[in-house]
Amino acid sequence: MKKFFSVSDVDDLTSIVDEALALKSSPYALQALGKNRTLGLVFLNPSLRTRLSTQKAALNLGMNVMVLNMDKEGWALETRDGVIMDGTTVEHIREAAAVMGEYCDILGLRSFPSLKDKQADYTEDLFNKFVRFCGVPVVSLESATRHPLQSLTDLITISEHKNVEKPKVVLAWAPHVKALPQAVPNSFAEWMSKAQEQGLVDFTIAHPQGYELSEEFTNGANITHDLDGALTGADFVYVKNWSSFHEYGKVYPVSTNWMLDNEKLGLTNNAKVMHCLPVRRDLELSSEILDGPNSLVIKEASNRVWAAQTVLKRMLQKLDTLK
Ligand code: CP
Repeated sequence: MKKFFSVSDVDDLTSIVDEALALKSSPYALQALGKNRTLGLVFLNPSLRTRLSTQKAALNLGMNVMVLNMDKEGWALETRDGVIMDGTTVEHIREAAAVMGEYCDILGLRSFPSLKDKQADYTEDLFNKFVRFCGVPVVSLESATRHPLQSLTDLITISEHKNVEKPKVVLAWAPHVKALPQAVPNSFAEWMSKAQEQGLVDFTIAHPQGYELSEEFTNGANITHDLDGALTGADFVYVKNWSSFHEYGKVYPVSTNWMLDNEKLGLTNNAKVMHCLPVRRDLELSSEILDGPNSLVIKEASNRVWAAQTVLKRMLQKLDTLK
């Protein structure tokens, strides 16, 4: 594996989940694989889980890790070509990424969308330039349109906790006070759509009108504006807010109650409830659910380590074949 950016970078979902669960049962079995290899984690935005779980995954594989909070500690980055850099940007991504590639065997990058320039965000301009100029394998730590380590984690978590062969999985929009990216729901939708194709889940998306995601990600999913109908018989409910894709970055007022609580959970097949975190309590998701027996959010966050470790393992094995 040379790049981990989307579900297209993985062929067989069952195999990668099995690989992750094997690492979970023997975390330190491959300590020699990462010896004398360096992972660089570059953050242009905040993070708790991605930062710590990916570091832990690399340490489990015997790697060295360096973290750069580029937004706070790095030089202001220019990503446009053909501009005279006489403004606030200090370093061009051409040099910055190339230099990081000299120091690291594998790089990770977190780069959120602007939510202003849909074209730049959805062509993944910054992420693609970073990949192009750094010259080493790159793992997405969440880009403008996708969060693949989170989605792999979610698939692992669903596989571990399912009680039926082909569970009903519902991605349910939730309220928020801010305009949030579509990266997590886009990514979850494309991973679950592929899981549905491979016969692993039955996938539904429920959101209010105006919150349609790009069809590029939702192809194959059942999509509804009826939350109660979607929740009926659900085995897993994946709660997440996102802003509008079509009216890019816009937040529409929603009159009906879209926050999941125990009353709504009663419609489900005693569903397990997931959220990528961070979560705003009693706005996106009720405290009674977060503190109750159906919440998987902590186990889900814990599984971030095994998703990251699986991806790094595959990248290290690929590097070994190129020696
Ligand atoms: N879920 C997730 O990516 O968490 P962080 O933003 O804290 O890394």
